[in-house]
Amino acid sequence: MSTPISAEPAPLLPAVTQFLQRQHGLWIDGQPVPARATLATLNPATGQILCHVSAGDAADIDTAVAAAQRAQPRWAALLPAARERLLHRFADLMERDREALAQLESLDNGKPLRVAYNVETQVAIGQMRYYAGWPTKLTGETYAVSSPGFHVYSRREPVGVCAAITPWNYSLVMATQKIGPALAAGNTLVLKPAEQTPLTALWLGELALEAGIPAGVLNVVTGLGQTAGAALSQHPGVAKIAFTGSTEVGRAIQRAAATHLKRVSLELGGKSPLILFDDTGDLDAAAQAALWAIFANSGQNCVAGSRLFLQAGIHDAVVDRLAALAGQLTVGPGLEAASDLGPLISASQLDRVLGFIAEGSRAGGDLIVGGHRLGGRLSQGYFVEPTIFAGLGDESAVASQEIFGPVLSVFRFKDEEEVLARANALPYGLAAGVWTQNLGRAHRMAAQLKAGVVWVNTYDWFDPAVPFGGMGESGLGRELGRPVMEAYTELKSVWVKIE
Ligand code: NAI
Ligand code: MG
Repeated sequence: MSTPISAEPAPLLPAVTQFLQRQHGLWIDGQPVPARATLATLNPATGQILCHVSAGDAADIDTAVAAAQRAQPRWAALLPAARERLLHRFADLMERDREALAQLESLDNGKPLRVAYNVETQVAIGQMRYYAGWPTKLTGETYAVSSPGFHVYSRREPVGVCAAITPWNYSLVMATQKIGPALAAGNTLVLKPAEQTPLTALWLGELALEAGIPAGVLNVVTGLGQTAGAALSQHPGVAKIAFTGSTEVGRAIQRAAATHLKRVSLELGGKSPLILFDDTGDLDAAAQAALWAIFANSGQNCVAGSRLFLQAGIHDAVVDRLAALAGQLTVGPGLEAASDLGPLISASQLDRVLGFIAEGSRAGGDLIVGGHRLGGRLSQGYFVEPTIFAGLGDESAVASQEIFGPVLSVFRFKDEEEVLARANALPYGLAAGVWTQNLGRAHRMAAQLKAGVVWVNTYDWFDPAVPFGGMGESGLGRELGRPVMEAYTELKSVWVKIE
């Protein structure tokens, strides 16, 4: 493990510096509306305040929902090609501002700038482009009914006003993943970004207006989960809510949504297994994949491959490779080019992760690498070493609970049957990975793993065309692809007597 010594921080764009110095209102009905309170967002690399934003409350949510309600009928009435053009223009502007968005996200979240640019903004723009194409592709069906004299068909109609509550780990992608399908389907939206990373969402609110998307179609209300978020999830004017975050808050949102029977989609936590069989083949490639499966975004990733199951014949060889690779990772501020991993998002996430690490040692785990907070010039930020435990029981806290930090548990297994039972033993079911050269085994495992996505001989790939979501306590519904367009529309059946 090394920390960079001479890496020069990237210079901030003037537009980013100006943005950080501005007074930020809530973005409602195409205007910045100051709230009664403010909240500070921190730079997790330094623990210093980066900027203040407005902290919306229930009354602000009322205003935002009312604006979204007013704007919705006209937005839905636009010709599909016109909605497409506006959404493409929005994507064009994101592309124009890509570097600024990446810098802001790196500052606010802590992730390496290179990742914010090459991954986060790239994926977010790709998603907006994909959804921009949907308005002209939404179709109903005709039905072959067995009663004489009818023409029966269906229409896909917008649900109305939607709400999005997003987390801090991939703020931009989580926002576009919800803005894109909601707007493409003719809905309007109130977005409540995470209080730890509110900045790029505000930037997107301005871009929507600049793109020509009418005021009130995309509203951004920054604020706390228990005030702004809770008010949004209870609001009778919201027809659908899409949430990504913790399982605990997901449950609260579903309970709140029940009052008015809002449509709900939940993308929650995970404790995803990555399984390497003896016939993995290229152990270097597999170890590299396992490394990034857990350490990408400092482990703050819903699909983090946090449980690594190694078949006995390759166990030691993979552990050795992983330990060596983890030791070469550079942990440091996101704006320094040498940084592979940034800090954790907050002091409370740091405490949580260090608590799990201490618990892992108490439970008899062998620390193969890492295990400590980083000090020295990094001591003001929330930096933790990439950490690998072996020798933990499957039921131990570290091995069974979502940590959301750079902490991997490694296990040894004997055969397919055993590893399937262990991999499927948790209430989660978000993602899984399998490495094998045996085609039959790959498909058997893909069919039997309890997970909304299975990666074979790879890990952590996404595409806007491919549905994503969890089984069990990892969530409800699917985002991306065609299913998400169905989730943001109501299906109406129309019976016409023709004879
Ligand atoms: P969280 O679930 O509290 O926050 C996610 C979003 O929900 C934020 O926008 C927050 O303001 C909002 N929120 C919080 N309480 C709410 C409420 N009562 N009603 C409506 N909205 C509410 O997650 P947090 O506390 O930031 O992280 C805690 C743990 O959650 C992490 O350690 C991790 O295990 C998990 N998590 C999972 C994510 C995922 O991608 N699946 C993303 C973020 C966190
Ligand atoms: Mg922040």
